[in-house]
Parts: sequence; structure tokens; C-alpha cells
Amino acid sequence: MARCDELAACSEETDRITRPYGSAALVAAMEQVARWMELAGMAPRRDAIGNLRGRYGGSDPNAPALLLGSHLDSVRDAGRYDGPLGVLVATATVERLHRARRRLPFPIEIAAFADEEGLRFQTAYLGSKAVAGTFDHALLDRCDASGISLRQAILAFGGDADAIPGAALRPGEAFAYVETHIEQGPHLESVGLPLGVVTAIAGQTRVVLAFRGEAGHAGTVDMTLRRDPLPAAAEFILAGERMARETPGLVATVGQVDVAPGASNVIPGLVTLSLDVRHPDDAVRREAVCALEHDAREIASRRRLGVEWRVVQEQCAVPCDPSLSSSLERAIAAAGLPVERLASGAGHDAVVMSAVVPVAMLFVRCKGGVSHNPAESVQAPDAAAAIDALDRLLDELATERPT
Ligand code: GLV
Ligand code: MN
Ligand code: MN
Repeated sequence: MARCDELAACSEETDRITRPYGSAALVAAMEQVARWMELAGMAPRRDAIGNLRGRYGGSDPNAPALLLGSHLDSVRDAGRYDGPLGVLVATATVERLHRARRRLPFPIEIAAFADEEGLRFQTAYLGSKAVAGTFDHALLDRCDASGISLRQAILAFGGDADAIPGAALRPGEAFAYVETHIEQGPHLESVGLPLGVVTAIAGQTRVVLAFRGEAGHAGTVDMTLRRDPLPAAAEFILAGERMARETPGLVATVGQVDVAPGASNVIPGLVTLSLDVRHPDDAVRREAVCALEHDAREIASRRRLGVEWRVVQEQCAVPCDPSLSSSLERAIAAAGLPVERLASGAGHDAVVMSAVVPVAMLFVRCKGGVSHNPAESVQAPDAAAAIDALDRLLDELATERPT
């Protein structure tokens, strides 16, 4: 818990946690976690996209490894547990193993991913995609809000865009990925349990859309003559909210609105919005996104505006691996806790890793389900229960995979 507090000080903004991909704050967080990995007997290194990866050898260093991990980047004005808790629970589990001089038949690798949230380049999972070998090189030319390309950002972060293929796992290099993460929802709190096993992770679509009109004088342009994109954006936001409320399980969020040129006495000329749509069923999500695009075009045409619609991310729902999840359930039961299963509405690096290895996720109760908010809160006994469960999972897997 103290380590989570310490990482919270690594931020590019004073008085709040903001740790985007490639920032000096993320470098500082990784340097700190690397020191803790060394204390746990691990050998840490940075890969070509900047992920921190710590290796702990087993009795057969060439056997396929167990991957544990989560991410160290954050959203803007974040809490201190989304991401770091999973990395630190994994590190603490290895440290316990190391101190007890217990030897496992397989090596462990902890991956502290450098970009899960997609805050800087509007594309999530850059770190885990490099490890899974699914990194899209077309993204290297994408620019952040200051015009810095991803290729430049990787270099400044100590990485090398051309070497990203070398960061990918080779076939047979790992046999499973297990991620610990705060629940970010209220379920575990409502059932009074510290831990849960994730069944599936909801799919998501991210869109950047823009309504283009004509900027003008706020005092002289008659209301009937205006081509103001901001009321169009307002109509669109309400349409999204209505659709999500009327469709069971659907969530739709506009989290960013940029109004240009942005002055109180100027009619806006351009409004750019982000849209995030999620549902456990991919067909329902796709249908909702289509309907919302139709709404955006109808609103624009009725108001004599231009509209741009760009899907910047599309991720299908992912089921966790039943057999690996059963091992995790046995570990939780061995720790003396009831087994609770639940789905995840939030995205996780496990989604990407599922393309190359079986994945399982351990959720930790958080207060009020609050997340992506500085009020995120986790209790120390719950974090301890997670370390205990992960520790017992190592025993389970060692029994299942003897040398
Ligand atoms: C990550 O936190 C996401 O679900 O957007
Ligand atoms: Mn998050
Ligand atoms: Mn997260």
C-alpha cells in the first residue's frame, strides 16, 4: 500500500496523478518499480516500447513462463490503484517466493505495461500489443496533442520503434497471463468479498468525431443563419445517453469535448468529441455504434454542418480462459475465501494478451466501485488477500505443470 502511495507521487501534474505513455513521470515510476523488482530477486529490463519486464527464474529457466502484470500509465487525474496495484501485488508475491527460497518449475515474468489507458495517443494497449506481437506499426505516425508522433515518443522514452517486433513473446515462451486489478465497479463490495474471478471483459469502440460549422460574431449573426456545431454536439451527446439508457448493458461516454476557436463572444466553428461505447455482446455494441453514427450524420445534415467520424479503436469482448480461471478459483478457495465470479466492464491488458496465451484475472474490491477518479480506494487486507491468492495460484500451477 505504501508503494502505491509512492507511485502516486510520479505524475506530470502537481497535486494530481497523470502518468501518460512516454512521460518523465512514467519513467520515474518504472525506475522505482524496477528497484522493487530487484529486491524481489528479479532481473528487470525495459523492452522496445518501454514496458518494464522483470524476470524471476524457475528450476528450468527455459520452460514457458507464467506472465503476471498490469499497467503503470494512468488516465488524467487518476486514482493510485488502477494498474499499479496489479504490478505491485505480483512483485510482492514474487518477493514472498524469493524470501522463502521456494523454487517453481517455471520462470515468472512480470510485465508492467507502459500504455493501457491510451491517454496520450487515443489508442489503448500499446504496451501489451508489443508483447503480444499485435502492435500496429501504422500507429507510429499518430501524433499526440502537441504534434509529437508515437515514433518520436517511443524514442524519447528510451525505446526503439523499429525493434518492437523483438519485444513480442516467442511461441512457447509463456504459458499463461494472470492480471490482478481493482474491480472498478461495486459488485465485490455489495457481496462483501475482497476478491473475484473475472469471467469475461466487455468489448469497446472508441470514436473521434467532429461537427464542422462556421465561426462567427456572437453579437451580429442572426440565430437563423448560424451553423453552430456545439448544439449539434449537445444533441449527439444526449442521443448517446438515451440509447445507452434504453439498451440493457450498453454504456456510452463522451469524455472529451474540444470547442474551437473557444471564446465567449465567438460562435464555435468546430467541435471535436470522443465517444466510448461498450457492451459484453459485440453485436449489440456494433449495432449501437452504427446507430450513433447515423444519428451524428442526421444531426449534421439537419443543421447544415459537416461531420467526420473516425473509429480509433475497436476491441471485441474477451472471455477469460476457463481452465486457468478454475486454477485461480481453487487458489482463492485454498486461501479460505468464497469464490465469486464477475464480468469486467473496464478494459485490461488481459484482453490483448488473450490473443497469444490463456488469460485469467483476479479482481480486488474497491470502495464504492469508484475508479478513474482520485477517490479510488483499496483496503490493505484486500491487497493482502490478493497476494495470498496469487501465491497459492503459483502452487496450483506448479502442481499442474511439474518439471
Ligand atoms: C481502461 O481503464 C478502460 O477500460 O478504458
Ligand atoms: Mn483505467
Ligand atoms: Mn487499468
